[in-house]
Amino acid sequence: MAATVVVGTQWGDEGKGRVVDGLAGSADIVARFNGGDNAGHTVVAEGHTLKLHLVPSGVLYSHLTLLIGAGVVLNPDRLIAEMDRILSIGADVGPSRLKISAAAHVILPTHRAMDGAREASLGDEAIGTTKRGIGPTYADKAKRVNLRAGEMSDPVQFARRVSERVADHNRRLAQFDVEPLSVDQVSRAYRGYAERLAPHLVDGSVLIGEALEAGDTVICEGAQGLLLDLDHGTYPFVTSSSTIAGGATTGLGFGPKQIARVVGVAKAYTTRVGQGPFPTELLGETGDRIREVGDEFGTTTGRPRRCGWLDLPIVRYAARVNGLDELALTKLDVLSGLENLRVAVAYARDGSHVDYFPAEFGAQSLAQWEPVYEDLPGWEADISDIRRREHLPRAARDYVSLIEDCSGVPITFIGVGPGREQAAV
Ligand code: GDP
Ligand code: IMO
Ligand code: MG
Repeated sequence: MAATVVVGTQWGDEGKGRVVDGLAGSADIVARFNGGDNAGHTVVAEGHTLKLHLVPSGVLYSHLTLLIGAGVVLNPDRLIAEMDRILSIGADVGPSRLKISAAAHVILPTHRAMDGAREASLGDEAIGTTKRGIGPTYADKAKRVNLRAGEMSDPVQFARRVSERVADHNRRLAQFDVEPLSVDQVSRAYRGYAERLAPHLVDGSVLIGEALEAGDTVICEGAQGLLLDLDHGTYPFVTSSSTIAGGATTGLGFGPKQIARVVGVAKAYTTRVGQGPFPTELLGETGDRIREVGDEFGTTTGRPRRCGWLDLPIVRYAARVNGLDELALTKLDVLSGLENLRVAVAYARDGSHVDYFPAEFGAQSLAQWEPVYEDLPGWEADISDIRRREHLPRAARDYVSLIEDCSGVPITFIGVGPGREQAAV
């Protein structure tokens, strides 16, 4: 009976995909518990670079069962394209192995259109979403009007329900002066998706429950990161799901006491895609250099990621909200060659300091706080071939130790390159 939860501790793209892949070799199930194809998780292993949006990151291990859980919002079109891409490299994503929870929610093209229309209408105030229809789909779920994946088991009836929903969405799109989508075309396409995906449908909670009962190891793969969490992130510049460890239990349907291990993934610096506060953002040369060396361009949208110094109050916040047992630190290699490094260790406002990330009062309040930095020396050496922590240059070891001291969480994995083997432990 052991569930391990893997979550992002910053604004997403911390390297969750590679960390899940690293843990998956000794697991039985990998299950995605939130988000949709706004996520882009990269796995570099066995000669492949896989950019996964919905399929769980354990896919290269043929012994694993893969589950898309109830908390996920599913774009069937994108899932099928992703499955076909994976099939073309010889990995198995057939129904005996890739399972979809019947309670996962379905994204329609009109959800995507509403996402785009709303963003356009917000102008400068836009959130900078991925325009994948994530917010509108979760909103329909909360309104209790959305379609669930389980309805695909009857493709004809499903197509009928799709027509009703698309017609309703078309009325809403008219308010944004957006052309309606063809009800017939969408419902015909969705009937085809249902025929293809119906064999993958399961009761996800039963699947996980039986696996835990049998003593199997289940890796719960989070998407996004703490500061994009609907409740605990930098609202309103967040996504519309629960990205934290607690989201694994609601998104998969098992009890919190069955979580044995919570692993937070933290990038050695900070990045963010889209709008919203980012106190340690670097707008000049250093930020550009990190973006280039770290190849910080969105896995899903290709947008350049905003880059900045590591913010330890954020990592400490992640330790609290998620109950982290361990940290997996990624992309330490990207900092090699920077002469001086800065790390935010606290926040200050009107002469008073706090050691936590002041997020709860929202983006506007956060803008009144200034990060308090500690300066550290950098290191020159290329560290990408190092496999043991004690072999890292002194300055890199000190950097890692500062993160542990400040967050109170041990670092058990240090990414020194994107490849599966490129980690120091
Ligand atoms: P995720 O969304 O959290 O799974 O992260 P992404 O896949 O969107 O972004 C992480 C990027 O960093 C991917 O391109 C990874 O291949 C890459 N990456 C992960 N770990 C490391 C590392 O330790 N070093 C380097 N240089 N790249 C890494
Ligand atoms: P992974 O799982 C980074 C960001 C978007 C935007 C905000 C809301 O790869 O870490 P949405 O489309 O979800 O309504 O957009 O959330 N965002 C991500 N940023 N990594 C992600 O996923 C993200 N998923 C959404 O850029 O700011
Ligand atoms: Mg990503």
